[in-house]
Amino acid sequence: MPKSTTVKDYIRTIADFPHEGIMFRDVTTLFADPRGFRMAVDQMLHPYAGMRIDKVVGLEARGFILGGAVAHQLSVGFVPIRKKGKLPGKVISEDYQLEYGEAVVEVHDDAISAGEKVLLVDDLLATGGTAEAGIRLIERLGGEILSCAFIIDLPELGGRARLEKLGMDVHALCAFEGL
Ligand code: PRP
Ligand code: MG
Repeated sequence: MPKSTTVKDYIRTIADFPHEGIMFRDVTTLFADPRGFRMAVDQMLHPYAGMRIDKVVGLEARGFILGGAVAHQLSVGFVPIRKKGKLPGKVISEDYQLEYGEAVVEVHDDAISAGEKVLLVDDLLATGGTAEAGIRLIERLGGEILSCAFIIDLPELGGRARLEKLGMDVHALCAFEGL
């Protein structure tokens, strides 16, 4: 029997992007395929069947594509966490470390209400720095994070362990070994 196609099969790897030695895991090929995109959204939601989710929060930029589809599927609202200076209303901010230097993410201060159950979504978990900044923003607004959901985990970069240490439930649809 032929092996059935998995979410991982739709992800393209591009060597030496954005720097030499990096294997870039490209989800645009997954999102561009109607079956692949549907499969990713359905599988992402599978662990939470029957659980209360009030808001889906997505991390800029690739987490928006996924988070919007996930929120629509659940019939709940979507909240963007954006890079600094993009949101027009009153925001709260968190810094996080990049490979070179620092970055800042923001969320509108009225986007999540205290006690709301939140699903945090992004395409990829590497060091976990981006997700941790998102977690801090959500928690500062009083949101309760049900889980953090990713398409790809890069276990060698330690993001899952980092988020689990913060008490987070973490799910990923697939993992890639090697950077
Ligand atoms: C990538 C990826 C995750 C983040 C993971 O986003 O989409 O958001 O890095 O890395 P980390 O776990 O080490 O924080 P990137 O910042 O490249 O930007 P983009 O999504 O806007 O393309
Ligand atoms: Mg990103």
